[in-house]
Amino acid sequence: MATSNIVPELEEPLSSIEKGWKSTHLTQYQGFWLPLKFLSGIMACRERFEACKDDIILNTTPKSGTTWLKALTFTISNRARHDFHNHPLLTTNPHALVPFLELELYADEQIPDLTNLPSPRLFSLHLPYELLPTSIIESNCRIIYLCRNPKDTFVSLWHFLNNLLPEDEPPVPMEEAFELFHGGISPVGPFWEHLLGYWKASLERPERILFMKYEELKEDPTFHCRRRLAEFLGFPFSIEEERQGLVEKIERFCSFESLTSLEVNKSGKTRHGMPNKNFFRRGIAGDWKNHLTAEMSEKLDQLSQQKLEAFGLTFKDVGK
Ligand code: A3P
Repeated sequence: MATSNIVPELEEPLSSIEKGWKSTHLTQYQGFWLPLKFLSGIMACRERFEACKDDIILNTTPKSGTTWLKALTFTISNRARHDFHNHPLLTTNPHALVPFLELELYADEQIPDLTNLPSPRLFSLHLPYELLPTSIIESNCRIIYLCRNPKDTFVSLWHFLNNLLPEDEPPVPMEEAFELFHGGISPVGPFWEHLLGYWKASLERPERILFMKYEELKEDPTFHCRRRLAEFLGFPFSIEEERQGLVEKIERFCSFESLTSLEVNKSGKTRHGMPNKNFFRRGIAGDWKNHLTAEMSEKLDQLSQQKLEAFGLTFKDVGK
């Protein structure tokens, strides 16, 4: 890895800093709230990442099931190389197998050498569509976007960010965090604009952008792995593989229960310093009902209706 001395110039001044989430200070940039800690990596990645046509880029809002998607895409696209007994996922956290460009590879002004990675290269990002490196758009590489209903995303985010606080620091009260999230202030938020950017792009270029929802993947992982992920990745399952039950095996191998049983996901940290175990909590759809008041739920439903429904984007009513 080479080190650059150049932190790319910001195109416009940052407008303000919001400290509401305590563990993650955010700053506004071109209409989105970006984590201050990762700003230089974000800018370096936007400026320097050179996408290839065969790349596959996984994009998500934080807490949408990124870790799960990484495990599935890695396992599906590398199934000819690795069998289940000697598989990298048994000893490696999914984030190390599909690294984040802006949070890891380009963090700390690093310029990674990515030229010799086997094709297709798998990378991930949390960046909004509007802030993607231009080479990702120009190369016409494939993008898989995974999102999750706003209520479960918020609850998962609240737990995740509070876990990052020092032990003696009290958690951000849920009501306070809720007002921020609802007001659009969350990492790479506004949440709704993040979704819409990819949703509209997926309608325009469905052959290059696959739009998925956590709840649907959870409800029928076999269908989504077989008919959507594997085919989109360019590694469709053969009739023989299907007959042998390989799709279901992969699904079980990457399930919440399976990943959380592995030692590697109980200890250790990702390249960007997050404890591996923090990426696994309950792994279900509808946990919001154990945390949100009826009023909070109603407020998020209304906002989602206002912002998304006109574009045909809706979520199943999980948890009611
Ligand atoms: P919860 O906090 O609701 O449990 P991300 O990977 O984008 O950070 O998202 C983390 C969320 O995905 C957490 O949600 C986590 O438990 C859940 N998750 C992680 N691995 C999963 C898996 N294999 N299957 C389903 N959900 C998973």
